[in-house]
Amino acid sequence: MADIGKVALIGGGVIGAGWAARFLLNGLDVAVSDPDPEAPRKVGEVMANAERAFSRLVEAPRPEPGRLTFAQSVAEAVEGAGLVQESAPERLELKQRLFEEIDRYAEPDALVASSTSGLLPTQLQAQMSRPERFLVAHPFNPFYLLPLVELVGGEHTAPETIPRAGAFYASLGMKPLHVRREIDAFIADRLMEALWREALWLVADGVATVEEIDDAVRYGCGLRWAQMGTFQVYRIAGGEAGMRHFMAQFGPSLHWPWTKFSDVPELTDELLDLLAEQSDAQAAGRSLRELERIRDDNLVAILHALRAQNWGAGETLADYEARLSARADAKG
Ligand SMILES: NC(=O)c1ccc[n+]([C@@H]2O[C@H](COP(=O)([O-])OP(=O)(O)OC[C@H]3O[C@@H](n4cnc5c(N)ncnc54)[C@H](O)[C@@H]3O)[C@@H](O)[C@H]2O)c1
Repeated sequence: MADIGKVALIGGGVIGAGWAARFLLNGLDVAVSDPDPEAPRKVGEVMANAERAFSRLVEAPRPEPGRLTFAQSVAEAVEGAGLVQESAPERLELKQRLFEEIDRYAEPDALVASSTSGLLPTQLQAQMSRPERFLVAHPFNPFYLLPLVELVGGEHTAPETIPRAGAFYASLGMKPLHVRREIDAFIADRLMEALWREALWLVADGVATVEEIDDAVRYGCGLRWAQMGTFQVYRIAGGEAGMRHFMAQFGPSLHWPWTKFSDVPELTDELLDLLAEQSDAQAAGRSLRELERIRDDNLVAILHALRAQNWGAGETLADYEARLSARADAKG
């Protein structure tokens, strides 16, 4: 977007590095502030995988990548940045302290966003003197491929902040989803947490291995979810009478013992060992970076298939490519 040419990243771990890739590949300059001396190496490794995946994904003229720098302080990182994206560890006091500091040094009209997975924006912005420009912008790994970014405002967020941020993230090929009510864990993590609890119970109860549970997702419901979500799939499952019929048929089972959703299995050493052992066996010696590349190639293929249908996440990709082509044409 025209008014944001530089982004400051506060925290360059898993999420910060992923954001760095999304911004740099869109031609924006990025300054990272992270006390970890290993941060440049980690960001570099993520960038290598991201460049590979992004070049396969996008079939339109891609911008020249932006410039990546590492700053010595928050003040240095935020200088001249139109967006400050915080991705520091998930600790409220630490983030509040950082937002106070960011607020002090950031450009007056800069947007200030947190990548938090579940802390509430009203709490995060509590110590800012300009909280109206603050929002949560919660992305999904791998950030350079998955379009979703949940946007959540706090009590002191100005009404114009969410659409302004939304337009910016959309210009990067993302799909902003405004979470209109401030709730713990927002929308997507609440859904994923529900599935995760059930999956842990199935392992803890000895019903299935981690691989069998992943197979149940990837050969069936996961493919449905990727393209239609859950409600529309169930509407179709209800036949011609749609959702009413579906609820009449499966509504009663909600009261049957099909789920252990509200309980959490005790995370004993035994269970943790079992999860780790089964997960190692499932990986079959593949390294983290190898698994990332397999995941990325599969996602690129799925996104291309959805683009061919002009549907869901594929429609977002097609829109993004149209923007890139228009930008390239305008440059001549
Ligand atoms: N991991 C995920 O899948 C995921 C997804 C979405 C959002 N998030 C959120 O993103 C945030 C970061 O998570 P992560 O997984 O990248 O954690 P991480 O531990 O990989 O990275 C955090 C980074 O912050 C740095 N840091 C620590 N103190 C700092 C400071 N004072 N200033 C600047 N940087 C500092 C650390 O050195 C580290 O590199 C969290 O709020 C998390 O909830 C995580």
